[in-house]
Amino acid sequence: MKIKKKLFALFSGIGILMVGFGLYAFTAGPSSDQGYLPQPPWENLKVLPKDISKDSLTHLMKNYTASLGVKCNYCHMPSKVDPSKLDFPNDTKIEKEIARGMIKMTNEINENYFKPFFPDPKPKQVQVVNCVLCHRGTANPEKYLSQMGEMYKTYDPNRDNRKEKALEGEGKQ
Ligand code: HEC
Ligand code: HEC
Repeated sequence: MKIKKKLFALFSGIGILMVGFGLYAFTAGPSSDQGYLPQPPWENLKVLPKDISKDSLTHLMKNYTASLGVKCNYCHMPSKVDPSKLDFPNDTKIEKEIARGMIKMTNEINENYFKPFFPDPKPKQVQVVNCVLCHRGTANPEKYLSQMGEMYKTYDPNRDNRKEKALEGEGKQ
């Protein structure tokens, strides 16, 4: 009986120590020398979740480049300090702002027009429509729709495409 009590005291002692250490590890933050640096907060996310992990963000960005057939610098400006690097939080490029709208649009289409028809329990996130579904490896899918008149009788090849033309004028696609 006595031994059992002692053992119990010993184990609960260890338990308390471990909880204490766990809390310490949680609050100690990046200064603790455990060789682990948490992801620094993103500086300028307006549509993606602010706490998105580095892996998930990189994965998304790589999807964008592949879907549009571009490189990171299509949306991100070179850094003023070191032009060999990109200044990711910088918002100067219009393509980045357009991409924000596209991300929102894609999320809304999935959320409002696909998710409701998924059986319960509904998944947290539905990704039926994504960038590549429309873009197919080109930044400006509309440009390649000029032959659409054949397939889609009401498609107007003389639609208002001033933006497309302006971008072309700058030597971009
Ligand atoms: C089609 C446009 C586009 C391309 C291409 C693109 N990005 Fe992005 N990126 C964005 C947008 C838009 C945001 C901001 C999202 C938001 O506001 O939530 C962003 C944000 C980021 C951020 C976070 C910056 C911060 O701290 O706010 C990083 C890092 C980043 N991109 C890296 C990359 C890398 C690396 C590549 C190439 C593999 C890449 N991006 C390609 C559009 C793009
Ligand atoms: C429903 C179809 C559709 C989806 C989904 C879509 N896009 Fe687009 N996107 C277009 C069309 C069409 C244009 C050309 C619009 C124009 O000419 O004004 C375009 C234009 C753009 C442009 C500007 C290119 C330029 O040269 O004007 C960017 C950047 C872009 N999309 C990024 C994205 C990203 C990133 C995603 C995924 C998050 C995405 N798009 C999803 C249809 C789509």
